[in-house]
Order: sequence, then C-alpha cells, then structure tokens
Amino acid sequence: MKKTKIVKKNCIDENLELAGQIIRDGGLVIFPTETVYGIGADAFNEDAVKTIFEAKGRPQDNPLIVHIYDVSQLDELVERVPKAAKKVIDKFWPGPLTILFNKKDTVPKSLTGGLNTVAVRMPDNETALKLLESAKRPIAAPSANISGKPSPTNVDHVVLDLYGKVDMIIDGGDTNVGIESTVLDMTTVKSVILRPGAVTISDLETVLDNVEYDPSIAKDPSKAPRSPGQKYRHYCPDAEMKVFVGDEEKVTEKMVSEEEKYIDRGYNVAILTVEEHKSLFKSENIIVLGKKEDYPEIAKNLFKALRECDSTKVDIILSEGFEEEGIGKAIMNRLEKASGKNIEYL
Ligand code: TXA
Ligand code: MG
Repeated sequence: MKKTKIVKKNCIDENLELAGQIIRDGGLVIFPTETVYGIGADAFNEDAVKTIFEAKGRPQDNPLIVHIYDVSQLDELVERVPKAAKKVIDKFWPGPLTILFNKKDTVPKSLTGGLNTVAVRMPDNETALKLLESAKRPIAAPSANISGKPSPTNVDHVVLDLYGKVDMIIDGGDTNVGIESTVLDMTTVKSVILRPGAVTISDLETVLDNVEYDPSIAKDPSKAPRSPGQKYRHYCPDAEMKVFVGDEEKVTEKMVSEEEKYIDRGYNVAILTVEEHKSLFKSENIIVLGKKEDYPEIAKNLFKALRECDSTKVDIILSEGFEEEGIGKAIMNRLEKASGKNIEYL
C-alpha cells in the first residue's frame, strides 16, 4: 500500500513542483483533465508504466495515451507528423482528441501494448497542462479507474478505485466533458475514428477530407475493433443494465412498464432519464442525466450516474438511449459497453 497524498483544489499550485518530481522519480500521480481523471507516470520509464497497469488491473495489450503540453514534445514520440495531422492539431489541441502516430523506436512498447503506433493528446485543463510542464516529460495516463469500471469524473470516484495505489491525487473538481477523448488514427490514408468522443466526425470533417468510423463503431459485427481498449467490456456498473432507444413515446412507455415489472418482482430499480421524463417514474433511484436536447450535459453526467447505481446497490438499471448525432454517438458507444449491448430499439 502506498501513502497517497490528496491535494485539495485550493492547494494545487503549491504542490505542482512536488507532483512533477513524483513523476520524474517514477511515481504515479492522478490528475484531472477536461474529459476524465487520468493516472499518470513518466511515459519513458518502463517500470513506472508497468505500475499503472498493475494499479488498474489493466490487460498488458491495452496501450496508454501519452499526454503533452507543447506540440514540440511530439519530436520525442513520433516518427513524423503528417500534414493532415498538423491541421487537426491546430484546430483541436488542447482538447478532447487523441491522435495515433507511428511511434519512434525509443518509445517503449510496454506503453503501446506492443504496437508500432503511439496515441498522443494535449488535454484542455490548466492543472493537467501545468503538471506536464512541471514534470518536463510526456506523461502516460489512462483513465484513473479500476479496469472495466466507469471512468472517474470526480475525485470521489478516483479515491474509491485507487487510493493507496498511487503517490498523489490532485482534486480538480468535476471534469467538464465527462467521457473520454475521441481517438483518431492518422497513420492510414483515411483517418479512422477508433473511439467516439466530444470531438465529433463532423468537427473533424471541417479540416479533413477523409475520415470514417472504425467498422466496429459503425456497427459491423464481423470486424474486430482496431483499438485494443474497445474490445473489452467497459464502463460496467455492477447491476444488469437495459437501454431503450427510438421513438420518445414508445421509449418512455416501455420504460414505465419495465419499471413496474421489476418493482413488482421486488427489485431495487434505477432509472437513468432526462429532465422532461423524470415525473413518469416512481423508483427510489431516478437519476436525471440532463435536459433531453442537452447532449453535452448528458455526457458529463453519465459515468457519475453509473457509479451512483453501484453505490446504491441497485439490481437493475433502465436507461434512456440517445440519437447517434454529434456527441450522442459517443454517449451511445458508452451505453452500449456499459449494458453489454443490451439495447432495445423502439
Ligand atoms: O480522455 C482520455 O482519453 C482519458 C484522459 C485521462 O486523457 N484517457 C483515456 O485513456 O481514456 P484510456 O487508457 O482509458 O483509453 C485509451 C484508449 C484505449 O481504448 C486504447 O486501446 C486506445 O486509446 N489506444 C491507445 N493507444 C493506442 C494505439 N496505439 N492504437 C490503438 N488504440 C490505442
Ligand atoms: Mg479507460
């Protein structure tokens, strides 16, 4: 068990030097980003990177994202930056977009799950950027949750999963975006979205001629996902979860009748719904994700809602689904994984 120092929100600046030193000494620091919290180590220290995998219980073949605060740091990590990638970087960094490049030989393969590509992003969060600057080296950081659990969007989630396994936890409050970054492979002729996030396909189309979803996201079941992380069950609450999507009236009608059925059976039911529909339900655990049109708010609250279901020990979660437009694509990707594809289209 490690001694974990928790840095409160109003004490961050005075602890940044120490945080950077911990990274340089091969330790682990959990820090906020605009998407979710990350568990960080020196990207070039193989032993330190190994301890990230151990702390999370993460499969070795699932590569990590490397975080940088300045574009010049790409020189240490990647063979070259394609022209198209330069445009994407100019437009979307810092921000919730991870780009895959061909890695330099010096980048450890333990970091990239044995692959020849490396995933890099520049987070849009002041604390994260200051930590990176203080550490003076790229930081490898997956989401700071036990593997398989929903990603953490506040420090309570982080403490629950990883207290005692890291040297420092920096409390930056609630994260803004709430779901992980878009992962974009730019090593191929066509750029491919391996994981949908807040930077959407139409955002990317403003600067790229050729961009498409990986077939696994585009829902071709015959194709295995190319991003190792996407093949694992993920974001899982403890309880069984059912998602209902489609015509608004049919969805709410079905959810109300399912709620009734499970309550009759004596189940502890949780409802994940929107502001406009909450009065239709009668369970003890009605969790409002946001207003029905406000997808960014719904994304922001999603993982917190799933974790709330764990802490109140519900038996079944009935959730609304959303249109796969804009960030709705990323929300549905996470709901699909959280429910083990238990989705009913109405
Ligand atoms: O928003 C985020 O991206 C957060 C914050 C902390 O930055 N990080 C995050 O990391 O979500 P993680 O490890 O939970 O997810 C990284 C995803 C995984 O699905 C992984 O398989 C994929 O990126 N990935 C990383 N490197 C890759 C590579 N070389 N090729 C294909 N997929 C890669
Ligand atoms: Mg993760």
